[in-house]
Amino acid sequence: MTDPAAEYISLPVFAESGYVVIDSYDQSQDPDEWADLTFVDWKSSGDTRFAPLASAYGDMECDGFWNHDPAKTDKDGVWVPANVDVAPRLVARAQEPGANIGRCRVIELQPNTYADALYNMHRDDNNRLNPEGTGWIVRAFFNLTDNPDTMMILREDRDDPSTETRVPLPAGAQAVIDTQRLWHAVWHPGPDPRYCLITSYTSGPELGAWLEEKNAVPRIDVAPLDPAFAAEAEAAAQKKRSDRAAAIAASGADPAFGDGSLSGGSSMEVMSEA
Ligand SMILES: [Fe+2]
Repeated sequence: MTDPAAEYISLPVFAESGYVVIDSYDQSQDPDEWADLTFVDWKSSGDTRFAPLASAYGDMECDGFWNHDPAKTDKDGVWVPANVDVAPRLVARAQEPGANIGRCRVIELQPNTYADALYNMHRDDNNRLNPEGTGWIVRAFFNLTDNPDTMMILREDRDDPSTETRVPLPAGAQAVIDTQRLWHAVWHPGPDPRYCLITSYTSGPELGAWLEEKNAVPRIDVAPLDPAFAAEAEAAAQKKRSDRAAAIAASGADPAFGDGSLSGGSSMEVMSEA
């Protein structure tokens, strides 16, 4: 398989698994700044909202940087004053690695099931318009709310459960993921919404040094799921996927555009987050 990251500056620590888990952060020392942020409802399925801290040009919106004029890659995000003003700790945490920041936002995720998460798995398009020879863009996930039973689902192969890792997301859990390589989604049993700071970073010496300082590990032990439960969820997700493909085929719509009306509300933007 061709490795698209090979044409870019990438970090060796991601080579093995495509993700790293780093030291947890003591979330209890910080106020719940996300409660004061302005969330944007655009293109949302109703299950997810976003609060931009850095957007393409500093506006209160969450569109991909390539959808702006002038279009740009997911680097050089511009801080959004109204949200930055109420979330100085979140901004400071995003800036801590010292690497270039693209999109930076807090996601609000409503409860879902394991089958939902399997269906929602996707790979991001972080490196669209990213010039070859520059740093490969990866994404950091800093969990804000305490969700010990919530899992970031990662798969090297979407249809092969044996490639799955589940990263637990208690308060302060931190992972940095090549989300353009790994299929991913979050399984959040609830009952309350989950909040997480998501930041796009450019790979390079700054990010590499920070990951080393935070004791990045490229593999974690994963508690097994009940096999019958897992098989049932897998089948449910596969069926939903094939039903959606059939609905798109019947409508004549171009599946590349991921029509939210046919997907149960999974717009492209929602699918680009976790
Ligand atoms: Fe994503």
